[in-house]
Amino acid sequence: MRKNKNNQTVWSTRTKKKLSSKFIKAGSSIDVDKRLYKEDIAGSIAHVQMLQKQKIISLKTKDKIIWGLKRIKNEIDKKKFNFEKSKEDIHMNIESRLHELIGEDAGLLHTARSRNDQVLTDLKIWMKSSVKELDGLLLKVIKNLILISEKNIKTILPGFTHLKNAQPISLAHYFLSCVEMFKRDRKRFENSFDNLNENPLGVCAIAGTSFNIDRLYTTKKLKFEKPTNNSIDTVSDRDFVLDFLYNISVCSMHISRISEELIIWNSDQYNFIQLKDNLVTGSSIMPQKKNPDTLEFLRGKSGTTYGSLISMLTIVKGLPLSYFKDLQDDKEFVFKSFDTIKNCLIIFNEVILGIVPMKDKMLVSASKGYTTATDLADNLVRHLNITFRDAYKITAKVVNYAEKSKLEFEKLSLDEMKKIDSRITKKILDNIKVKNSIKSKKSYGGTSFENIKKMIKIYKKGIK
Ligand code: ARG
Repeated sequence: MRKNKNNQTVWSTRTKKKLSSKFIKAGSSIDVDKRLYKEDIAGSIAHVQMLQKQKIISLKTKDKIIWGLKRIKNEIDKKKFNFEKSKEDIHMNIESRLHELIGEDAGLLHTARSRNDQVLTDLKIWMKSSVKELDGLLLKVIKNLILISEKNIKTILPGFTHLKNAQPISLAHYFLSCVEMFKRDRKRFENSFDNLNENPLGVCAIAGTSFNIDRLYTTKKLKFEKPTNNSIDTVSDRDFVLDFLYNISVCSMHISRISEELIIWNSDQYNFIQLKDNLVTGSSIMPQKKNPDTLEFLRGKSGTTYGSLISMLTIVKGLPLSYFKDLQDDKEFVFKSFDTIKNCLIIFNEVILGIVPMKDKMLVSASKGYTTATDLADNLVRHLNITFRDAYKITAKVVNYAEKSKLEFEKLSLDEMKKIDSRITKKILDNIKVKNSIKSKKSYGGTSFENIKKMIKIYKKGIK
């Protein structure tokens, strides 16, 4: 990098004292943003190509700069590049090396550009490919959920409300509910592309530039869809960062909720599922233990992703428009959240494949706690032509009786039922068996086996 007489960086030509060495160290972002080197070099190449096309720089200079940039990329690829904190960030590290390689011409690269638009361009390019990566992992999750659903259409368990046995459901219906969650996550990421596809390059520091640049050209070269509209907004905007962090937070919240449910199912009190050995850890003192550490890891990580989101929201709150150093931390949160959710999705995929349902346990539990009481009431409405409120009262009497006699519904005889209401028939008793309860939930979106089979087909067709 060119230095002034005090041996300071290019932007320090007017300062008489050296920048605080403590601040150089603490304020440098190179350890974090070196991750953007490929994007930074791609952005710079598109920029000089545009400058040459617009006759702002010569063909020879353009070729020289591109040669240097490619060489730098190669050096970084091969880990032969010396990143320096004193050069603050990835942009200045690369520009400085370019200067060493090609001399004064390197100084032409930054014509009609500022680090304010440069860093945004890099980050958006990086995010676009990262979002695609997450989408691929989400798709895998969805496919694995469909797989386990297909194997468990007839696996019956109690659906809980308030964590109390509510109504029998199919295990497949539960996993397909997770499919819906992750489908929404994919949609959320897909929607974020609208903003990510606006090219910031060329708005420069805040006002645009007097050079005759062609922003449409760099937009096309860098595979954006359109240039951003307003130079002030562009350098100030971190909405796309917030969207990214929010979308990741929601996805990790989904994983967290499902993990918690699986932890409950895996507890010795429930024993609805076991986990394959690649998903559990032992205890350092209790030899018998198989702990669901993987699920606990997944449950906890929403703390990390929420943390990034809240940090970023707090940084932009009250910040006037344009660029401020405060914004530099955005990349730290973006990378942290991305790495976290990527790991979570990879591990969650293994979890889905490692779930072993204890079908008998689930079935027994599904008929405990009078889970078909609502079915009884529904049947009374239909067969006795009475209101739901009246049917509810009769059913409550049946539940009270069963509870007193310490019997589950399925163990109650027709005679006993008739004593409570003589209009109850054998057909009604039949209809309130757990399996028939599920069969009867044919309303759109309900848990009937028939619905589930149809939905699996629809999901499989829709997967892309
Ligand atoms: N490393 C800086 C960041 O990430 C790049 C932008 C610097 N712009 C400036 N005017 N200091 O925020």
